Amino acid sequence: MKNVALLGATGAMGQRFVDMLENHPYFDLRVLVASSHRRGKKYGKDVHWLLGNSVPDYVKDLEIMEFNVKTLEKENIDIVFSALPSEVAREYEGTLREKGYPVFSNSSAYRMEGDVPIVIPEVNREHIKLTKIQKEKYGGFIVTNSNCSTSGLVMALYPLKKFGIEEVIVTTYQAISGAGYPGVASLDICSNVIPYIKNEEEKIRRESRKILGTYENGKIKSYKMRIIASCARVPVRDGHLESVVVKLREDVSLEKIKESMENLKPLEGLPTAPKKPIIIRDEDNRPQPLLDACMGNGKSKGMSVVVGRFANIEGYLRFYLLVHNTIRGGAGNAILNAEYALKHGYVR
Ligand SMILES: NC(=O)c1ccc[n+]([C@@H]2O[C@H](COP(=O)([O-])OP(=O)(O)OC[C@H]3O[C@@H](n4cnc5c(N)ncnc54)[C@H](OP(=O)(O)O)[C@@H]3O)[C@@H](O)[C@H]2O)c1
Repeated sequence: MKNVALLGATGAMGQRFVDMLENHPYFDLRVLVASSHRRGKKYGKDVHWLLGNSVPDYVKDLEIMEFNVKTLEKENIDIVFSALPSEVAREYEGTLREKGYPVFSNSSAYRMEGDVPIVIPEVNREHIKLTKIQKEKYGGFIVTNSNCSTSGLVMALYPLKKFGIEEVIVTTYQAISGAGYPGVASLDICSNVIPYIKNEEEKIRRESRKILGTYENGKIKSYKMRIIASCARVPVRDGHLESVVVKLREDVSLEKIKESMENLKPLEGLPTAPKKPIIIRDEDNRPQPLLDACMGNGKSKGMSVVVGRFANIEGYLRFYLLVHNTIRGGAGNAILNAEYALKHGYVR
């Protein structure tokens, strides 16, 4: 068992980590970090729990800590998960890397640095080799998740790479939990759609190119494709829906497209890896956030991307996808990255 700490344990993403790490076979969650005003308070009493079940027993009586490397050293922490806002993450994650810790982060603070990988293991696990370069420079390393809408998009695009992706036009319908807690004011989002999410469209564009890029001699060469993203916040609790229009170099039948997506290889033997990374729905009105965001069972519930509504229109491929923003788009992907890193010797 590895001892793990969680930074940002009280937020929307932090709570998802707490939920997913319960009874985890590799990771023992021992330290919960949040803002200093919560220091010393019992997690079960102080957190505003957002998930359907109750605060899990294993963390109820843990005292919330403020960020302090000495506490992590005292608790013999081996691995750190981070669900911090990016400004805070920049400082704390950098400090931890310098102190030799492996950090698996959800924040955007380091995502676009040349030696920091954004990893979605079914898509670009070889990018994790960049951790070796970081280790030589700093002692520890940071592995990041992509932005939540990007993770679903690249999982669906990756099987299409072999047909040559020239252009992608993606329109998102993003859930409220993607903005954290308390996030968007209820008066702004109730009965409404907001056609703006700060920095989101740029993140989708640059992160997709990096993730779909190739690892060569210690560097990532970004994938060349045109990509236009338009992002909206919608009054949905969990699950980002995305309409995707793709121009491929090759002329490919819808059957072949679906087959390629369905055949995206799962990772063997990792507790959080879904057996089917992409699930295809053939009904006219799916995927839907309410019905499809939490497909699957056990530890990999919510880790699959659900895709449907395939069509060939005027030489373009069109489909919809759904990704659970705090699971595959966040905590679940970070846990899967850590499982992969442990199994393949990047973490000892
Ligand atoms: N929500 C999503 O779907 C999603 C998806 C992908 C990536 N992300 C990224 O994940 C990160 C967390 O997002 P979130 O949605 O969980 O945000 P959130 O609900 O606002 O939670 C932020 C967390 O960080 C803690 N925190 C803030 N300042 C701190 C400090 N100085 N020291 C220690 N802890 C501090 C907060 O503690 P207090 O409660 O004590 O203030 C809280 O636990 C962000 O970088 C976000 O961009 C989120």
